[in-house]
Amino acid sequence: MQGIVVIKCGGSTMDQLPDSFFQAIAKLQQEGKQIVIVHGGGPAINSMLDRVQITPQFVDGLRVTCEDTLRVVEMILCGSINKLLVRRLTQAGAKAWGVSGIDGQTLVAQKTSKPLGWVGEITKADTAIPAAILEKGYVPVIAPLSVSDNGVDTYNVNADVAAGAIAAALSAEKLIMVTDVPGIMRPQADGTKEIVAQTSTEEIQAMIEAQIITGGMIPKVQAALDALGQGVNQVVICRGTAEDLLGVCTGETVGTTVRMNVNHAN
Ligand SMILES: Nc1ncnc2c1ncn2[C@@H]1O[C@H](COP(=O)(O)OP(=O)(O)OP(=O)(O)O)[C@@H](O)[C@H]1O
Ligand SMILES: [Mg+2]
Repeated sequence: MQGIVVIKCGGSTMDQLPDSFFQAIAKLQQEGKQIVIVHGGGPAINSMLDRVQITPQFVDGLRVTCEDTLRVVEMILCGSINKLLVRRLTQAGAKAWGVSGIDGQTLVAQKTSKPLGWVGEITKADTAIPAAILEKGYVPVIAPLSVSDNGVDTYNVNADVAAGAIAAALSAEKLIMVTDVPGIMRPQADGTKEIVAQTSTEEIQAMIEAQIITGGMIPKVQAALDALGQGVNQVVICRGTAEDLLGVCTGETVGTTVRMNVNHAN
């Protein structure tokens, strides 16, 4: 399928997304762009974990997921956040259809060997359901839960990793990672932070080692590089504003563009 734009909506910025952001998605859809949304839900998950007295734990930006945490993750992502996004898109005039990676085995995973509990490593992203939803003229809104090959187990997957896998499977032309920062930020000598307009594999590695890139930005840049390696044309990390979203789609310099290496043609 051609002209697919995957938008990863960070849970970090969910509360701040203005109506105009969703209206921009509706506009792109009406212009014939095939939009797919994959969403996170970090803060909403943390707030529900707090209510049930579980302390959130992260290792390199990935959530440690015990059985009780998994139930909360599933409830918040497949329930509240997924339906909130469908409602907001509907209000903005877009047609939206919410599913999770479990539905139709869109995201098949196996349990990670890392000590993270019920976290999955994606082994297969199946495009049948998102493609069918696009075909019907709706925006698929995908919650990043995954399922084992035999359908028995549910796994939590970082939303950036899920978005990267779905963008790659759909051969998306763009993966836009919408988050609560304008892009990758780098501290300057004068103590201020500046946005990195373009970055590449080597520089990203150096920024992780120097602890300039930390926390949730680590899986984000890794998922960005993986998606580029699997044929996605362009990956941009930016804010959730209509200006940024439409700017990326019209080829303006917005946020941080991730490239595989400095000489790469992307
Ligand atoms: N160099 C950096 N530049 C910008 N942000 C950074 C950097 N290093 C770490 N971060 C952190 O990464 C965060 C974004 O990742 P985070 O996982 O928190 O949000 P998200 O992926 O948008 O939401 P969710 O995980 O809920 O889907 C930023 O809010 C910031 O705190
Ligand atoms: Mg994140």
